[in-house]
Amino acid sequence: MSFEPKILSFLCNWCAYAGADLAGISRFQYPPNTRVIRVMCSGRVDPVFVPMALLAGFDGVMILGCHPGDCHYLSGNIQAQQKISFLRKLLSAEGIGEDRLVLDWVSAGEGQRFAELVRGFTEQIRSLGPFPATEEARGKLRAIQASLEGEKIRWMMGKAPELLEKDNVYGERTSPEKVREALEATVREELRKNRILGLLEAGTMTAAEIGRKLNLSLKETLPHLISLVGEGRIGFDPAEEGRYPRYVRSG
Ligand code: FES
Repeated sequence: MSFEPKILSFLCNWCAYAGADLAGISRFQYPPNTRVIRVMCSGRVDPVFVPMALLAGFDGVMILGCHPGDCHYLSGNIQAQQKISFLRKLLSAEGIGEDRLVLDWVSAGEGQRFAELVRGFTEQIRSLGPFPATEEARGKLRAIQASLEGEKIRWMMGKAPELLEKDNVYGERTSPEKVREALEATVREELRKNRILGLLEAGTMTAAEIGRKLNLSLKETLPHLISLVGEGRIGFDPAEEGRYPRYVRSG
């Protein structure tokens, strides 16, 4: 069976969409595998749209905006770049190929470039094959989506550039390594906690069972369980009187 990639493209109104229009008017050939959503600016694309698109059955996502310096809202494309680089951390932490996502720039006069980008990305996705529809892959995407919707990650996503560029109230600046370490630790923690919440949707589990599903040792699993219990998001199943407590989702 031949595989036809399904690609979702977000095109900024002022540059990339106009570039796509020019490609059509100029009759530049490109594969018809992409569905387009027009947005006012690439900065409008919330990173959470990417896992949502993959969960909805798309095999890849393109985000195309104005070239740096040309954004009609001044820094929207730079913000898009920062948010997408954050998203890439989550995708790579879960072992989901970052090559299913592209962020690039196309001006209103670059119809040819638009056609080339679509052609190149479609071929890239064709060679990768369909996005795996396994329960594990979907569980990872749901954890990425939930993490991106969570307060902690959203705060870090907005604050990280500021932490790197500005001094704090004591006139000190956090080193890039420290910021990176803090980001990675938060991403890891949020992803694991959301994977656990996802697993517990299907029923109660012991800490050891959860650890096995996530390829984590008991020592790595327990702090996340304790934290989730403390936040009131999970509890112990009162109906289970086995030797080991079984965790259940609250509410
Ligand atoms: Fe095109 Fe901002 S208006 S990227």
